[in-house]
Amino acid sequence: MGNHIPADAFVFFGATGDLAHKKTFAALQSLVRRGVLNVPIIGVAKSGWNLDQLKARARDGIEKFGGGVDEPAFTKMCQLLRYVDGDYADPHTFARVRTELGSAAHPLHYLAIPPVLFGPVSAHLSSAGCVDGARVIVEKPFGRDRASATALNALLHSAFEESAVFRIDHYLGKEAVQNTLYFRFANAFLEPLWNRQHVRQIQITMAESFGVEGRGKFYDETGALRDVIQNHLMQVLGFLCMEAPNWDDTERTRDEQVKLFRAVRSLQPTDIVRGQFRGYLSEPGVAAKSTTETFAAVRLHIDNWRWSGVPIYLRAGKHMPVSATEVRVEFHRPPQVVFHEPLPPSHNFLRFQINPRVEIGLNAQVKSDGERMVGEQIELLAIDQQSDEMTPYERLIGDALRGDGTLFARQDSVDECWRIVDGVLGSVVPAFEYAPGTWGPEAANDRILPDGGWHAPRIAQT
Ligand code: BG6
Repeated sequence: MGNHIPADAFVFFGATGDLAHKKTFAALQSLVRRGVLNVPIIGVAKSGWNLDQLKARARDGIEKFGGGVDEPAFTKMCQLLRYVDGDYADPHTFARVRTELGSAAHPLHYLAIPPVLFGPVSAHLSSAGCVDGARVIVEKPFGRDRASATALNALLHSAFEESAVFRIDHYLGKEAVQNTLYFRFANAFLEPLWNRQHVRQIQITMAESFGVEGRGKFYDETGALRDVIQNHLMQVLGFLCMEAPNWDDTERTRDEQVKLFRAVRSLQPTDIVRGQFRGYLSEPGVAAKSTTETFAAVRLHIDNWRWSGVPIYLRAGKHMPVSATEVRVEFHRPPQVVFHEPLPPSHNFLRFQINPRVEIGLNAQVKSDGERMVGEQIELLAIDQQSDEMTPYERLIGDALRGDGTLFARQDSVDECWRIVDGVLGSVVPAFEYAPGTWGPEAANDRILPDGGWHAPRIAQT
């Protein structure tokens, strides 16, 4: 289906699942409220439920996790909602989906189901005549490694062409991630500084103060590297380090991202530290002697003219001291000491906070009031806000309904991101234990230590 043709039906596999409960229905309600979604919504799942039960579940999820029910929008959403209860292995399920689609010629299928079902569900959709003119959204994780992602692509491509495949990485839908891209390319002043001449290192920290929260089984098969580094943090790095697209166009933006990923060196075992929080092995669903990492720190290198020689550090972990995701782009020091004071304690840096707030701040040194030429650090804040406008799911489903794939991961970029981490997946290095509430195992500091140390995200005092 050519892009930018609005979808005329939304088919939602996994409608009774956890993601639907926590995120998707809330996003659908908001899309209905904004008038973006006004087509039949066909929920599909195997739960033995009826439509009323699905509506009740949707209400419950929106109340608990989605910021509350907006009665007019919720009522409208329920009027659009249909439900097909059936097994994903049974052709009858798909025949009923076809019936519910009626005259819809451009359905958007949303596969909020385990990846092992992507292949069979696409094949059944195809046999039932539901894929012509259609698009498909697939949830993460997209594969477990490079080879399985390639195999998954082949399965999807037997039913949908690449331009019709929308791979979700909800990080791309975050306001703050969007603003990274915007801030870089809507301003000219950054460009002369944004390279190896001026930047000495980049750090990205994604810290979560909670653990695996009942997702033990999923998490144990996944681990931090697959769960958030290969996808979310790499996408942030893409926007941060790529070249400017010539103009705002889906494929040109994605071309630049993939060009950047191609320049990232494949990780070696010496580039990674893995950790596991104490107590992880007693989480329900976690294997007795699991060596899955709940923390990972990696050092990346980008082999291109802009970034060659600039070390890039990424770390992500569960049970960290805070919940915050932040990028820190650190600049070189002034070349000489002019004032009779010790060298500034820190380098200037630009800080992009992605979570919990949307913040962009430039750290600089100013003279302290008084007689002596000594200074202090201040931060020029370009933006400091709570993003309440739109959730990532609302933005991304809205984009997919319109056919705009800019914020979805293209096959080649997913492939490159897997290529980067492929050699260090699994137990290539041991997972060191760390105490919950700390910044990961000490080994992270011994083996992957940025010059000047790791910097914790700044948490605003409220
Ligand atoms: C998900 C991961 O993709 O992203 C979770 O599976 C993680 O483990 C989550 O907690 C973080 O996203 P957000 O938007 O809540 O910061």
